[in-house]
This record gives sequence, structure tokens and C-alpha cells, in this order.
Amino acid sequence: MATLAPWAIAADPLKIGLILPMTGPFASTGRQVDAAVKLYLAQNGATVAGRTVEVLLKDDAGIADQTRRLAQELVVNDKVVALAGFGLTPLAFATAPIATQSKTPMVVMAAATSSITERSPFIVRTSFTLPQVTLGIAEWASSHDVKTAVTLVADYAPGIDAEKTFKDRFTLNGGKVLTELRVPVANPDFAPFLQRVRDAKPDALFVFVPSGVGASFMKQFAERGLDKAGIRLLATGDVVDDDLLNGMGDAALGVISSHHYSAAHPSALNKKFVAAFEKANAGMRPNFMAVGGYDGMHLILQGLKTTKGAGGQALLDAMKGQTFESPRGPVLIDAQTRDIVQDVYIRKVERVDGQLYNVEVDAMKAVKDPGKAK
Ligand code: DHB
Repeated sequence: MATLAPWAIAADPLKIGLILPMTGPFASTGRQVDAAVKLYLAQNGATVAGRTVEVLLKDDAGIADQTRRLAQELVVNDKVVALAGFGLTPLAFATAPIATQSKTPMVVMAAATSSITERSPFIVRTSFTLPQVTLGIAEWASSHDVKTAVTLVADYAPGIDAEKTFKDRFTLNGGKVLTELRVPVANPDFAPFLQRVRDAKPDALFVFVPSGVGASFMKQFAERGLDKAGIRLLATGDVVDDDLLNGMGDAALGVISSHHYSAAHPSALNKKFVAAFEKANAGMRPNFMAVGGYDGMHLILQGLKTTKGAGGQALLDAMKGQTFESPRGPVLIDAQTRDIVQDVYIRKVERVDGQLYNVEVDAMKAVKDPGKAK
């Protein structure tokens, strides 16, 4: 080990630009990712190659023009080694050209439309993709006596990914999708859509809404008595988000979903992660957004250790192919697609020690994004 040169202390910090919706309708995503990034740094030390790692947090309020402008400033003025965050698909899409032009690695910690990673060769993802997590629930439906379904998704790219993946697989297995419903992305009124679901009388309703919206969906689902009308609720884990689940009440009990992360994942690493996260954040439970942020920081810091602080193509190459244990389970950053390969779980909402949790009941190992398998 070389001794630390005196001037190393004064070396420029390594800056990471973290752009998140900290205000606006998707502020819960920003709050979760930011808290997880801070926790990772607190637990793992914030120095690489003798240089301090500094995270510059910027609020884009969920507005794509803001994300792009902030990314440009972080690259040009602050000379960040990496851009990170991206709470919604349109925000990631808007920033992709900046990553490409400036050759700055862009770590997508939250947004989950399959095609995002194809928008720039400098994009790496630690969240998930909608096709990746939807296949499992479509298979579950086919093998649990669900013959007919209605789909209800948020009307933008990840919702379209979920709708198509569910329909393709469920139909391939002999099921029939009776109606496909698309609801506005922010603050949707579900009532008219739920009436159409009731009228269609499907065996099951499949739902995707982004993080933060699930509680209002669940409330209206129960208020309109769909839970008692014999229509099974199937969802991606975005709907029964750990951030909101405990407040959803009995209406959520028994809901089956598929996703890559549950706060109830029974590994030693996850138990430590959840306990530390709750302790540092006044009891807030980490959700899948938090895990995307935590693993994104891990990926960037491991990469910077390899490159001894260099960014650009070297950092990108150092992130490709990384494997590590995440609180969600084992993960791999596919060197070819730069997308995450991970286990996807079937979960059921149950009450555990007085609190609602997504209890994992089955797992599919090392699932690649099926959006790219073609
Ligand atoms: C996206 C946002 C979410 O909050 C979510 O749960 C899934 C996908 C997105 O915009 O990509």
C-alpha cells in the first residue's frame, strides 16, 4: 500500500450528478432513491482512489426538459463522472443524447421501459424492465385457472410494455384478454375504468401503475367492490409498492404480484438493508426504487475503484459485466445489453407482525429483459 501523498487530500472530488423528481407527483421515487444513495455512501465510505465522492442532487420535478437541462449543466459545468437517477421513462429518454454526446455513463436507477438502454450506448440500468417483471404474473395467471383478463395500465411507455407482455404471454398460454384499458399517468381517476372492468366480468384484472399511484388505485378498487365481485387482482409490484403498501389496508390482502424486490425478501443482506434504511429515515420502508438507487451507487463506486477515478468509456466498461449480491438477490449487469439480469419473484400480500408485506412465494432465476431477447 502506498502511503497517502499529502496533496491527495486536496485532489478534486469525484462528482456524480443525481437527478430525481424530489417534488411533483412522483416525489416519492426521488425520496426513496436519494435516501438509498445516502445510505450506501454512509455505509461504504465516500472515497475512491484518494478522492472524495460527492453526489450533486438535482430536482427535475419529473419534467423532462428540466432533466435534460440539469444533465447538461452537470456534464459541462460540474464535470461529473456519471449521471444517475431518472425517476420516469420520459426523463431517461430526454437525457440519453447528452450521455452519448458527452460520453458520460448514465445509470438509470428507477425508470423501467425496456427500450431505455437502447437509447444510448452509455446507459446502464440497475432498476428493472416492465417486460422482465410482467412475464411472471402472466405465467402465474395461466397456471392458476385464470381464463379471461382485463388489463389496466398507465398510458405511457412502461405501461405499454406491461400491457403487451401480459397479453402476449397470457394469450400464448390460451387465455383471453377481454379489454385493454389505459389510464392517465399522474393522478388518474380510476372510477370509469373500474366500471368497465366490472361490466367485462373477467376472471382477473392485471394492473400496472407507476410507484406512488398504487394506493389510490387500491382504494377505488375496494370502494367499487371489485374485490368482492370475484375479480382477482394481479399486478406488477409497482402497484403494491412497499412505500405505500402498509397504508392500503385489508383491500390489499391476498393480491398476487411479480417483481424483483420485496422489503420482505428473506436474505441476511436485505434484513440489514431494511433495518438500516428504516433507522436512517424515520421508519420509512425501502421500496424497489430505493434498491435501484442503492445498487446503482454500488455499481458506480465499484466501477470507479477499477478505473481509479476515471470516467467516460473506462467507467462504462468497468460497470459492464459486474455481478454482486443486492438486497433483492443476485444481480448481473449484462455486458452486451447493459441491462440488469435478476431474479423475479411471485409475491402475495400478507400480514406479518401486524404489517402488510409482499411475501415471496416463488422465484424465477436470472431473468433477462425479454424485450431484448428477440
Ligand atoms: C416507471 C416509473 C415508475 O414509478 C415505475 O414504478 C415503473 C416505471 C417509468 O417511468 O419508467
